[in-house]
Amino acid sequence: MNRVQNRRADRETINHRKERRKICMSRKFFTEPSTWGIKCNFYLTIIILLPTLIFIALYMNPHSWRPMDDVTKCKTSEGPPPPPLQPPPPPPQCNLFSGKWVFDNKSQTLYNGTKCIYMSDEFACEKFGRKDLKYLKWRWQPHHCDLPRFNATALLERLRNKRLLFVGDSLNRNQWVSLVCMVESSIPHWSLKSFSQNVSYGSFLTFKAIAYNASIEYYWAPMLVESNSDDPVNHRLPDRFVRVKAIEKHARFWNDADILVFNSYLWWRWPEMKVLWGSFDSPDGIYKIIKNPHPYEMALQTWSDWLEFHINPNKTTIFFMSMSPTHQWAEEWGKSEGQNCYNETEPIFKEGFWGRGSYISLMRAIEAAIDNLKCRGVNVRFLNITQLSEYRKDAHPTVYKKIWNPTEEQLARPIRYADCTHWCLPGVPDVWNQLLYAYILDKSYDQRNIG
Ligand SMILES: *[C@@H]1O[C@H](CO)[C@@H](O)[C@H](O)[C@H]1NC(C)=O
Ligand SMILES: *[C@@H]1O[C@H](CO)[C@@H](O)[C@H](O)[C@H]1NC(C)=O
Ligand SMILES: *[C@@H]1O[C@H](CO)[C@@H](O)[C@H](O)[C@H]1NC(C)=O
Ligand SMILES: *[C@@H]1O[C@H](CO)[C@@H](O)[C@H](O)[C@H]1NC(C)=O
Ligand SMILES: *[C@@H]1O[C@H](CO)[C@@H](O)[C@H](O)[C@H]1NC(C)=O
Ligand SMILES: *[C@@H]1O[C@H](CO)[C@@H](O)[C@H](O)[C@H]1NC(C)=O
Ligand SMILES: *[C@@H]1O[C@H](CO)[C@@H](O)[C@H](O)[C@H]1NC(C)=O
Ligand SMILES: *[C@@H]1O[C@H](CO)[C@@H](O)[C@H](O)[C@H]1NC(C)=O
Repeated sequence: MNRVQNRRADRETINHRKERRKICMSRKFFTEPSTWGIKCNFYLTIIILLPTLIFIALYMNPHSWRPMDDVTKCKTSEGPPPPPLQPPPPPPQCNLFSGKWVFDNKSQTLYNGTKCIYMSDEFACEKFGRKDLKYLKWRWQPHHCDLPRFNATALLERLRNKRLLFVGDSLNRNQWVSLVCMVESSIPHWSLKSFSQNVSYGSFLTFKAIAYNASIEYYWAPMLVESNSDDPVNHRLPDRFVRVKAIEKHARFWNDADILVFNSYLWWRWPEMKVLWGSFDSPDGIYKIIKNPHPYEMALQTWSDWLEFHINPNKTTIFFMSMSPTHQWAEEWGKSEGQNCYNETEPIFKEGFWGRGSYISLMRAIEAAIDNLKCRGVNVRFLNITQLSEYRKDAHPTVYKKIWNPTEEQLARPIRYADCTHWCLPGVPDVWNQLLYAYILDKSYDQRNIG
């Protein structure tokens, strides 16, 4: 479908959507997100747990997998669930996000970081001298099934004549570089791949697999909505403002994507934020200091509205990456205070480990937004990578990356400038992409996406 048809289809369904939106909004997701979520989850657990356990017992096949389908969530709130134990049985489900890291020194990583020509110096740990390479030897093993094997050719076939677009902050760029490296090594000849950067065109990085006319792109929008951090290069500002109601400036570049992968977390981790009404340049713009997660919820509301009215769910598949954890406080895993991820060479093995840098309140806000969107007819797949990444305190670049103008003092105390936020590549984001791949390649996903 082309753009014009999309627009028309949008208009045709617009009245219908407005109706549905009224119903959805009357459920008050955004004024009482947490209460609703808890209630819903509580009943849901009771309704679903029993039949699910029976099904798991009967049909569990450790070698097949299927992403957990949470469509039922929306339905249970409106009517009774389908009666259990009636044919046809649901396919076996597996939570790909629940598992453990197993040491595996036999398999190779999907690419070599020093050989990927699109590698970024921020993530190139081996190139910048990291000697302990044990962090490359861990494989993510879901508890009840296996991750599908990544096949770059199969992904490119799927992306033929399509556009996959990552939108978000530097963690999302971390993941974009990872995917590009995973894919580009399968295209040996330079003439069949291209890379371009166009900052004026909305901070785009574009990788193209020419023989497939497939593009894998990245768009910098760390808060999804407008903020004074929107410059892809110069965004380290002392005073941060966010315009939670304004998204069009960014979003107009997202319309035509076939697959959208969003994230936005890191820049919201403040107790409160300066929310601006009016434009950045106008002297009469007013701002208000608002406690989180409210600004985040308002931004997600703007984002949701945009998606509902501009995205054709028949064409575009939408993902949202859950928050990426940081490892700033080594006392959380039993080291002395003042240390961080610097010098760490092993994952954390304590099941369910959760650092205090991963704010549950923000996670609940995005979960509520996605639930609400589902009710409004837009399916967003939440890739819940937080827990699996929490375990990997050993996988950050620390000092093994390009450091811009380090001071004497910094060099003397590497802990002070160690990066415990981003991830070495190859590394953890490769697993995020394997999960993304699993969902993109799952044929039944398209069916579930309609609605
Ligand atoms: C999506 O596809 C369904 C079924 O083919 C159709 O009824 C619906 O109008 C389509 N929606 C849009 C926005 O194109
Ligand atoms: C792989 O790890 C096992 C167990 O730690 C070890 O015995 C073996 O020597 C290692 N193999 C290689 C090739 O490093
Ligand atoms: C990556 O390639 C370089 C150059 O061939 C090689 O020296 C290095 O050992 C490789 N790294 C890994 C982790 O295999
Ligand atoms: C990868 O996918 C391609 C295209 O679907 C297929 O031809 C090829 O056999 C697959 N490779 C492996 C190793 O499975
Ligand atoms: C190439 O891909 C773009 C989407 O990225 C699409 O709009 C265009 O129609 C494709 N070209 C051909 C010749 O199919
Ligand atoms: C960047 O995008 C702008 C806006 O579309 C376009 O005019 C310009 O030619 C592009 N620059 C490059 C180097 O592609
Ligand atoms: C890091 O590890 C090295 C080698 O084990 C050790 O010499 C150094 O003191 C450690 N640094 C810190 C800050 O723990
Ligand atoms: C995501 O994972 C976390 C930790 O395992 C869990 O608390 C949360 O409920 C999950 N969210 C969803 C929507 O599955």
